[in-house]
Amino acid sequence: MANKSVWSDNRFWRRSATWVTGFASVLLIWLTFDTSAQIAMGNDQDLKDGVVKRVPGPTVINYKISYEMSSKRGHEVPVIGGNDGEGNSLFQEKEKFFGRDDWSEEEAGKLLHLGKLASQAKNCMDCHTLLGNGAYYAPDLTKAWLDPAWGPDGAMQALTGKETKEEAMAEFLQHPDQFATHARMMPDLGITKEEAIGLVAFLKHMSSIDTNGFPRNFGRMQGAVNGK
Ligand code: HEC
Repeated sequence: MANKSVWSDNRFWRRSATWVTGFASVLLIWLTFDTSAQIAMGNDQDLKDGVVKRVPGPTVINYKISYEMSSKRGHEVPVIGGNDGEGNSLFQEKEKFFGRDDWSEEEAGKLLHLGKLASQAKNCMDCHTLLGNGAYYAPDLTKAWLDPAWGPDGAMQALTGKETKEEAMAEFLQHPDQFATHARMMPDLGITKEEAIGLVAFLKHMSSIDTNGFPRNFGRMQGAVNGK
């Protein structure tokens, strides 16, 4: 037995297995804590202090959100309150949401909560995808707020006859069957006005989440869809 190769030694494999399992466990625990910290929601003070959070606080609905190419990261990122020219948020430029840009943390939180409950009750995920979960029957809603179709020169805003993005989206959500496009039709889900406002807040907040450029090429795809 003196010349037995290390590869056929049971002790070698047992030790290796123990080390690999131990290392993987530590790595997984570390990654879990790291992820939890990364996806923890920020608050109003972070926005005021210009602290970048992957998931901004609810009062992000008071700010202008745009989608800009980040030269450093090589994909589009949500930019909050104005762009420094390189795809970084300035947290300065406000934008009225249903006539106000001073929604308090509590008010904005309630709106988001209502929107989230409505999205679950009406099961948007049955047809749409939100943050990677759901179906592909209808457009991905992760960045729907940033779709230029809802903007001032957009086809959807024009179709609803409303003056602002949020009013146009809320109107569509209450009567989607009245605003038929060339695509598949969204059925009337009996969404109330309050629910629609909550849902639009939910969509606006979701669009501000840094999803590492997911869904891929959203900016280009939407531009193409709307002929821009
Ligand atoms: C039964 C399937 C179905 C369900 C459920 C559904 N939708 Fe839709 N939705 C559609 C379809 C189909 C379209 C595309 C309509 C069109 O382009 O004319 C659409 C379009 C939209 C749009 C416009 C898409 C864009 O790119 O801007 C929004 C916003 C939207 N839905 C939100 C919602 C929300 C919020 C819910 C849940 C409360 C929901 N939908 C539930 C089928 C559905």
